[in-house]
Amino acid sequence: MMKGIVLAGGNGTRLFPLTSATSKQLLAVYNKPMVYYPLSVLMSIGVRDILLISTPSTVPVLRDLLGDGSRLGLNLSYAVQAQPRGIAEAFLIGADHIGDDDTALILGDNVFHGAGLPELLRHAVETLDGCTLFGHPVSDPGRYGIGEVDTAGRLISIEEKPRHPRSDIAITGLYLYDNEVVDIARRLVPSPRGELEITDVNREYLRRGRARLVRLGHDHTWFDCGTPDSLLAAGQYVQFIEKYQGERVACLEEIALRMGFIDAETCYRLGSGMAQSDYGRYLTEIAYALG
Ligand code: G1P
Repeated sequence: MMKGIVLAGGNGTRLFPLTSATSKQLLAVYNKPMVYYPLSVLMSIGVRDILLISTPSTVPVLRDLLGDGSRLGLNLSYAVQAQPRGIAEAFLIGADHIGDDDTALILGDNVFHGAGLPELLRHAVETLDGCTLFGHPVSDPGRYGIGEVDTAGRLISIEEKPRHPRSDIAITGLYLYDNEVVDIARRLVPSPRGELEITDVNREYLRRGRARLVRLGHDHTWFDCGTPDSLLAAGQYVQFIEKYQGERVACLEEIALRMGFIDAETCYRLGSGMAQSDYGRYLTEIAYALG
């Protein structure tokens, strides 16, 4: 079985003043709170038991927004990351939640979309052996974890925010790991900034010969909404897809219905509860169509 973790931590300093009084992961990406997007990715790969980790002030707001997840057929729990001590601290905070299972970690500001993406991700979950990372080309590689591959497409190096990037393939904020990740995280040495770096976890898997990189193709779009420009770009992208391609992105109730987590009647009821909004009306229509 695979457990999920959404890490919605950090102070969002690159988005100040937007995030000076609210959490980054609650900001709007077009018509939904940002955290809907990473949550939708975990749901679409069949992960239902999910821990949301966030700052002390954001956890209560996330709980108000999403509750225990039962209305979506999920089991959501919450934990606090008191200080921004790095992404890999999620495995220490979430050790009990992970238990003896594999885990999918997704960052709370990552938006993924594209044709066939859920199928590609589900295949990666089914064939997981060690660690699977997902790469996407970017124009500003200095901002990300960067993966270098050999001519056969095998991952050969990973560097965090390199000054001289060896490729333009960013390691996106979705990571699949076997259960060893907890042990690896426990042995990590904090970076000079006092953080447990996810890139160090991935490098350890790479050292053991158990890290794999799946390249997301041109059909796939990925945003990390960490800056005003990427936040706006993600919102405009979602608006375009929803308005002009007639597909919804990260519509949690629809995904829950399609995945068989809830029935059409429940989806209809959830939609009727917000029938004033386009989102709510869409839920009633889709429940009717798929019911
Ligand atoms: C983090 C990771 C980086 C990764 C990125 C993806 O960076 O450290 O390796 O490429 O997320 O969103 P951050 O956005 O926290 O600076």
